[in-house]
Amino acid sequence: MGSKSVQELALNPENLPNNYIYEDGGVGFRDALLPSESDIHIPVIDIHNLTSPSTTQQQELHKLHSALSSWEFFQAINHGMTSLFLDKVREISKQFFDLPKEEKQKYAREPNGIEGYGNDVIYSQNQRLDWTDRVYLKVQPEDQRNFKVWPQKPNDFRSTILQYTESLKQLSEVILRAMAKSLNLEEDCFVKECGERGSMFLRFNYYPPCPMADHVLGLKSHADGSTITFVLQDKEVEGLQVLKDNQWFKIPIIPDALVINVGDQIEIMSNGIFQSPVHRVVINPEKERLSLAMFCVPDSEKEIKPVDKLVNESRPILYRPVKNYVEIYFQYYQQGKRPIEASKI
Ligand code: SIN
Ligand code: FE2
Repeated sequence: MGSKSVQELALNPENLPNNYIYEDGGVGFRDALLPSESDIHIPVIDIHNLTSPSTTQQQELHKLHSALSSWEFFQAINHGMTSLFLDKVREISKQFFDLPKEEKQKYAREPNGIEGYGNDVIYSQNQRLDWTDRVYLKVQPEDQRNFKVWPQKPNDFRSTILQYTESLKQLSEVILRAMAKSLNLEEDCFVKECGERGSMFLRFNYYPPCPMADHVLGLKSHADGSTITFVLQDKEVEGLQVLKDNQWFKIPIIPDALVINVGDQIEIMSNGIFQSPVHRVVINPEKERLSLAMFCVPDSEKEIKPVDKLVNESRPILYRPVKNYVEIYFQYYQQGKRPIEASKI
């Protein structure tokens, strides 16, 4: 890592580099509405109900459909992972960022690489940098794990992450199947479209506090390039916000819930019925925040396109077929453009 980590910059907040600061337009980053303060709520979906006998399942599928066609975000409860296990996942992540710099540097991202430990990637001089340090790992498929950049400390880092990956792999199938059913499609149509060798990328986000919190962003506004994304939020410090009807809303913390949102690739497959929400992360002036985002993406060899059954006279096809969308995503993102535009007809 050529430049200083955000963790180091946070030790000297009087002297922040200009490329982190939003000179104007920054004020107000933190005064988003809580959904409970308006009359709309970020939906909570009970995953167990999605696989229960018929009436309960139908009701939950209906809720899922309406969650995904309104907020495009939901909070998943009863997902099968215990509170104790999720605490462990957060704990080993925090322990990594607490290690001395020399230890963390062993897993530093290589120049031009994407995996490993580092801060925001610089690709243009005018870019505002995100106030966050990260570890980014490709965790699936198994034979593509690059263990050189997987932390070995704390000791149980790897085993915990392997278990977390396995749980989310299974959960992603349950959700993709439920999403298909909620659209009256063949249950396995999204799973099939993702292919046998779908990938999963895990990003650990560490956001140090910043007294200039109204003038920095932890993660600039974006939509994900995934099929679906799972976010394990910090247990105490909120920061994630979603844009809806031109207004930013906080995603409240529900202990042990996973925040799930659809990404661009489901927007394409669903022919725009489910849309990939724009979101961002704001910073707390006093407290650090830690989160984990798991991005599921289809096999890069597979072409993805709107499901035939969702294309008809009243709903013409809205997206071109694409292959290896993740690559297109990064090219567009770096140019400050919305990547989904690459696929829109
Ligand atoms: C994201 O990855 O877009 C958000 C993660 C977070 O809540 O910190
Ligand atoms: Fe995101």
